[in-house]
Amino acid sequence: MINKLSQIKEPLLMGPGPSCVSYSVYQALAKPTLGHLDPEFISLMDKIKDYLRELMRTENKLTVPVSGTGSAGMETCFVNLVEPGDKVLILINGVFGTRMEDVASRLGAEVNSLNFDWGTPVLLDQVENQLVGKKYDLVAVVHAETSTGVCNPVEEIGEIVKENGALYLVDCVTSLGGMDVKMDGWQIDALYSGTQKCLSCPPGLSPVSFSDKAVEKLSNRKSKVPNWYLDLSMIIKYWSGKARVYHHTAPINMLYGLYQACFNIIDEGLDAVIQRHKDMHQMLLGALDNLGLELIVEESARLPMLNAVKIPEGVDDGDVRSRLLNKFHIEIGGGLGPLSGKIWRIGLMGETAKKESIQKLMDAFNEILN
Ligand SMILES: Cc1ncc(COP(=O)(O)O)c(C=O)c1O
Repeated sequence: MINKLSQIKEPLLMGPGPSCVSYSVYQALAKPTLGHLDPEFISLMDKIKDYLRELMRTENKLTVPVSGTGSAGMETCFVNLVEPGDKVLILINGVFGTRMEDVASRLGAEVNSLNFDWGTPVLLDQVENQLVGKKYDLVAVVHAETSTGVCNPVEEIGEIVKENGALYLVDCVTSLGGMDVKMDGWQIDALYSGTQKCLSCPPGLSPVSFSDKAVEKLSNRKSKVPNWYLDLSMIIKYWSGKARVYHHTAPINMLYGLYQACFNIIDEGLDAVIQRHKDMHQMLLGALDNLGLELIVEESARLPMLNAVKIPEGVDDGDVRSRLLNKFHIEIGGGLGPLSGKIWRIGLMGETAKKESIQKLMDAFNEILN
């Protein structure tokens, strides 16, 4: 009998996520499964909450990893914070802004969106104009738009949203652990992330944090949270307090993995990790330049961990990516939506953001493109 798992070879994950996972995280995942109410496990849960607060730079009590991938975090924020009839504004410049619009519009809210060109950042004057004219209950934006490689001006948007009085929701799936995220400093009320990007843990959990203002909105809801599994008012009874109350069985081993992934970042130093992402981005730019390849995003709005590279005229996107995968075991991403066939998305996230990764990719590119 053949065991399919024995045939898996470790790839170099240089796409938009998942990213490479360190050996220490794989080892953590393989630790014995504890009971989900075992005091030893509960003390690990408390440490995970502390680590997440450190990475998000927040004091928020309600900071927990939600069971499910980044999209579960997105859904958690919307279902807990939006009630029928609420006025919601989504700032869209890529796939994940569009997904937020879809999620919000399923909740009976009055959803407006401001659309910006894909590959360019959200424009502050347009946000300001929109928010001067109308009171909103919630404004949402993606920090690091993984579909385009654009960084949105989250701090500046936060100042405008504050004036309006709306809750401020930010997607930090790709940014957390790879660039500055200052939840409290940037006046963010609800934030969600994912484990498989710069945290370098396999996909499966979504760290979420709510400010006091967001918790107040949740506590004063007129209607029940319309999703049982993601209802934070019940989930927090398992994640905090002296006597923990069962909600759903926690994904124990995934939480070991997240614990170890956070430990690794904090052990290296969050600032040092952020600097490593910046340095590797610069190194990649130099290497791409040598090959005559360029990024589509203007310099001031580029993400360090997700590089959107213009595919040269006459080069077959699918052919290059399948040769990279089949011959060199390197995965990079293709473009999505209007950018399909036009860009490659090269990820330098977490464990992948290392010199050796860039060197291996350039050796492969050299052979394939020449
Ligand atoms: C910015 C952003 N938001 C949300 C998601 C959704 O996360 P997941 O695919 O883990 O559900 C992703 C995934 O790539 C993302 O990049």
